[in-house]
Amino acid sequence: MVSFRAAFLLVTTGVLLAWVAAAALPCPQHCECQHGTLLVNCSRLSLTSVPRGLPADVQQLILENNNIAKLARSDFRGLTALQFLDLSSNQLDTHGIAADAFDDLPSIRTLDLSYNTKFFDVPAQLPSQLTTLYFIQNSLIHVRKDAFANLTDLIHLDISYNGVESIAPGAFQSLSNLTVLYCDFNKLKDNGVPPSVFKPASKLSILGLRFNQLTRVPVDIPAGLEHLDLVGNQIVDLPSRVFSNLTQLQTLEIWQQPSLTTIADDAFAGLGKLQILDATSTGLNKVTNRTFDGLSGAWEVYMSLNKIPAVPAGAFHAMRNLSSLWLDANLITTLSPEALDTSILPHLSEVYLWGNPWTCDCHLRWLKEHIDNNNTAPAIDSPHLNVCNAPPKLKGRAFDSLSPKDFVCG
Ligand SMILES: *[C@@H]1O[C@H](CO)[C@@H](O)[C@H](O)[C@H]1NC(C)=O
Ligand SMILES: *[C@@H]1O[C@H](CO)[C@@H](O)[C@H](O)[C@H]1NC(C)=O
Ligand SMILES: *[C@@H]1O[C@H](CO)[C@@H](O)[C@H](O)[C@H]1NC(C)=O
Ligand SMILES: *[C@@H]1O[C@H](CO)[C@@H](O)[C@H](O)[C@H]1NC(C)=O
Ligand SMILES: *[C@@H]1O[C@H](CO)[C@@H](O)[C@H](O)[C@H]1NC(C)=O
Ligand SMILES: *[C@@H]1O[C@H](CO)[C@@H](O)[C@H](O)[C@H]1NC(C)=O
Ligand SMILES: *[C@@H]1O[C@H](CO)[C@@H](O)[C@H](O)[C@H]1NC(C)=O
Repeated sequence: MVSFRAAFLLVTTGVLLAWVAAAALPCPQHCECQHGTLLVNCSRLSLTSVPRGLPADVQQLILENNNIAKLARSDFRGLTALQFLDLSSNQLDTHGIAADAFDDLPSIRTLDLSYNTKFFDVPAQLPSQLTTLYFIQNSLIHVRKDAFANLTDLIHLDISYNGVESIAPGAFQSLSNLTVLYCDFNKLKDNGVPPSVFKPASKLSILGLRFNQLTRVPVDIPAGLEHLDLVGNQIVDLPSRVFSNLTQLQTLEIWQQPSLTTIADDAFAGLGKLQILDATSTGLNKVTNRTFDGLSGAWEVYMSLNKIPAVPAGAFHAMRNLSSLWLDANLITTLSPEALDTSILPHLSEVYLWGNPWTCDCHLRWLKEHIDNNNTAPAIDSPHLNVCNAPPKLKGRAFDSLSPKDFVCG
């Protein structure tokens, strides 16, 4: 028979043990923890290896900005709950990662290997259950055909700032769930992007190719794409129907492209869902009545800092939903009131026209009257920044220093 005293001792010991088990696991020395130890942050500690004794319940482990050069399976043993591992800004390279380094991490979904700079290749030993891989600012020059072959669950991939010059045909072949691909600030030329290379990524929604060296729009971009970023390339023209497969596209960014001089009629055919077109700062030197055909849903259109010399009266009429139109800093000398006719463009609310070399004659008097007459529907932004370039006697005069009577012909 157990004595009362012994029973009491047993019970209190049991309670004590239960309490110890339920209590917060210790946060590793020098690291910061949140939500108990679900997030363990050991950033900026000059660590040369993964700390020992990591709490078994950790879900997010931040090891960024250390000097870790090697990873072994024992580093992550027992971390079955770990979902998010940030190893950015370390000294890792492919050889420093053991083949089985990630084998004890069944829950891992997000891995950040950015800013290690010594990765010349995507390591073959990455866990196949990853859905997000950040691989920014490493030294990947060529994306091999099987670089992502095992990463069939990938949804989000970022290989920006690597110096990538070429992608092998089939490199995205197994990425049928890929939704976001950023390949910005690399060195891709046209021949580095094989035809149809993006096509297997049939769920792709965002494609970032900002600041590469492309001279034309890649073909066979997946038809479900919603956001296409071609900013800062060397594209020279947008041929007719070049985007016609992208019927779901919502934003198209092609700004900072001085080489782009020509947008063919019907270049935007098929883009009925496009909302925002940003073609600021290109070399575009001609706009016709059909340049914007197809953009029936576009409501924000940026055409600032181009070389547009003239705008025909019907140029914007296909864009029935147009609300904001940026035409500032072009070479436009005159404009027909029909171009901004709100009976055809009922949503047009603001237009940016300053920085054009206006010829202030009778053909432009309507604009001065419109500005003076409450300047609504559409509002002309910063009207005082509209300055006459001709006739000679009005050269340099701002609109607000003139009266409509000054706008006369011969
Ligand atoms: C980790 O700690 C560093 C340094 O204290 C801090 O800058 C960073 O924001 C933290 N990261 C997270 C995810 O909490
Ligand atoms: C894919 O995984 C297998 C088995 O884990 C491995 O042997 C192979 O090297 C991996 N291939 C690539 C291209 O990563
Ligand atoms: C893609 O995602 C779906 C839905 O989340 C999932 O059922 C499927 O297994 C994934 N396919 C691959 C190849 O990972
Ligand atoms: C549009 O899709 C068709 C059929 O897949 C393809 O042949 C064609 O090259 C695509 N056009 C462009 C401009 O990508
Ligand atoms: C125009 O905008 C309205 C409301 O913002 C929207 O319901 C409609 O679908 C748009 N039209 C087109 C052609 O996209
Ligand atoms: C452009 O459209 C306007 C308005 O519909 C029309 O008056 C003009 O003649 C057209 N110009 C050309 C060159 O087709
Ligand atoms: C200008 O706006 C004021 C105040 O909204 C209004 O009373 C006036 O009628 C408008 N003038 C014209 C010419 O539309």
